[in-house]
Amino acid sequence: MASDERNVKISKVGVIGAGVSGLAAAKQLAPHEPIVFEATDSIGGVWKHCSYSSTKLQSLRCDYEFSDFPWPDRNNSSFPSHAEIVDYLEAYAKHFDVLRCVRFNSKVVEVRFIGDQKITDNGGAYGSLLPGQSVWEVAVQTGSDTIQWYAFEFLVMCIGKYGDIPKIPVFPKGKGPDVFQGQVMHSMDYSKLDQEAATQLLRGKKVVVVGYKKSAIDLAMECAEANQGPEGQPCTMIVRTRHWIVPHYWVWGLPFFLFYSTRFSQFLHERPSQSLLKALLCILFTPLRRGVSKFIESYLLWKMPLEKYGLKPEHPFEEDYASCQMAIVPENFFGEAEKGKIVFKRPSKWWFWEGGVEFDDKTRVEADLVVLATGFEGKQKIKSILPEPFRSVVEFPSGIMPLYRGMIHPLIPNMAFVGYLESVSNLHSAELGCKWLSRLAEGEFKVPSVEGMLEQTGREVEVSKRTTRFYRRHCISTYSINHDDDICEEMGWRAWRKNNWFFEAFSPYTSQDYEKEK
Ligand SMILES: Cc1cc2nc3c(=O)[nH]c(=O)nc-3n(C[C@H](O)[C@H](O)[C@H](O)COP(=O)(O)OP(=O)(O)OC[C@H]3O[C@@H](n4cnc5c(N)ncnc54)[C@H](O)[C@@H]3O)c2cc1C
Ligand SMILES: NC(=O)c1ccc[n+]([C@@H]2O[C@H](COP(=O)([O-])OP(=O)(O)OC[C@H]3O[C@@H](n4cnc5c(N)ncnc54)[C@H](OP(=O)(O)O)[C@@H]3O)[C@@H](O)[C@H]2O)c1
Repeated sequence: MASDERNVKISKVGVIGAGVSGLAAAKQLAPHEPIVFEATDSIGGVWKHCSYSSTKLQSLRCDYEFSDFPWPDRNNSSFPSHAEIVDYLEAYAKHFDVLRCVRFNSKVVEVRFIGDQKITDNGGAYGSLLPGQSVWEVAVQTGSDTIQWYAFEFLVMCIGKYGDIPKIPVFPKGKGPDVFQGQVMHSMDYSKLDQEAATQLLRGKKVVVVGYKKSAIDLAMECAEANQGPEGQPCTMIVRTRHWIVPHYWVWGLPFFLFYSTRFSQFLHERPSQSLLKALLCILFTPLRRGVSKFIESYLLWKMPLEKYGLKPEHPFEEDYASCQMAIVPENFFGEAEKGKIVFKRPSKWWFWEGGVEFDDKTRVEADLVVLATGFEGKQKIKSILPEPFRSVVEFPSGIMPLYRGMIHPLIPNMAFVGYLESVSNLHSAELGCKWLSRLAEGEFKVPSVEGMLEQTGREVEVSKRTTRFYRRHCISTYSINHDDDICEEMGWRAWRKNNWFFEAFSPYTSQDYEKEK
């Protein structure tokens, strides 16, 4: 690695973050000897630093798997724990010698643009990722007051959407946490406790959990388990929006993948860049799509007492699936509700009073502890280190980060974002994306013009907004195979990757289908 006279260390490729996405990027960009900066002392990201003791993978092992590194027991249908996932990631990093690229305890605190500002105005062309001169400078904090600057031609942001910055609700004056005499914490802080400390915190306490997604559901379950017996207190969940929850990946005896993860099932769904004929077919297929959604809903309503607890959503299942919001409920979740250990409240508004929380119908719940499982501010993480004018275009023009192929922001040169595209398996999206990035960096193909990329991302947003009212994430779950087809075609790979038409139509696509060029 070279240095300039200001002691800026110069290299070709920098990667920020060593979670799943950073590891995938480091492995795929290995020929360029990337430097990976990781703020903490370990790899694994959320699986290491944002998991409870009960956190498990929600995807199947065979979906959440690197294409060239199968899980040792990949057909085991149980969901691995967060610790098993960290072991798997460590084994992957060791096997492919990725760890030698990682600088631990190295937090990127500032990023500066030192390239040609006109790079994206160049006739609308998006420039080369490796132009032969530094484009970004990065300040890395390694001790309380030690900053080292680095310069890179190409920077890959893998800092994650979850963890680090919690989303905290805003309250009217005099109704916030300051008036409450008990304890308030975010699920992120709860995840930092070990099992013993977490149980101690919850045992015998009146707990309110805010939220009804995966963090909240798992937390309510841990709370119920810590409060068994007559001394135990109930845990109250504040459910603002009722979403469909799923007990496992079987529906009336059929595997779940048949409904959304095969080429045939995805053919029924709208996708960006489809022909007029396909658009017309999609309109004709509407009753069939609704039927699939109703079929799944009928099973979920039969399997779980959603109506009894007033938790039946008003929207179709399909809308939750298309927005990557589906949460797997722990096996005995409603068993604990039956025992009165989990109680549901469905206010549209709530706030604090000195003894607990109050709802818009003026009823109150007493509490010792309120846990906000209210999600994370992923975009703030990016904005906190990106300089202007790039910070201002992060969400331009649609309010959602416009990432071409889920990775390139058309208005931010020489930078890629990995880990922002969501689907059945975020690991698969990250890995295939990084294969595409490494070939783009080699100059094996070019991306469209800046306007062309903005048009494509705009089409994706339109399709997603038509498919689900909950479109807040870059979620491609109803057209993921088509998305991967486009990536393959750009890389010069065959898009249809199965050995015969039957498997092509009716078997699910997994990472292993994309192991090698075909
Ligand atoms: C509890 C939980 C469970 C999940 N379960 C699933 C699941 O079952 N299936 C699924 O597909 N997805 C799941 N997800 C989504 C999950 O986020 C992705 O699957 C994936 O692990 C994200 O990896 P990442 O590398 O993009 O981000 P992260 O795992 O967040 O890693 C980001 C890394 O960047 C580092 N970092 C951040 N800022 C800086 C900085 N300024 N400088 C240096 N380093 C920095 C962080 O320390 C971290 O190590 C889950 C998410 C959570 C929170
Ligand atoms: N594999 C696992 O076991 C696991 C575990 C935890 C998390 N995860 C993943 O991590 C990501 C983050 O999940 P998350 O559950 O932490 O966050 P999330 O998906 O963003 O959910 C936040 C929840 O808080 C609610 N909420 C936010 N503000 C509120 C307010 N003011 N009042 C009432 N409710 C409010 C939201 O309600 P609305 O719906 O009304 O907005 C939603 O129910 C997801 O991708 C998830 O799949 C996975």
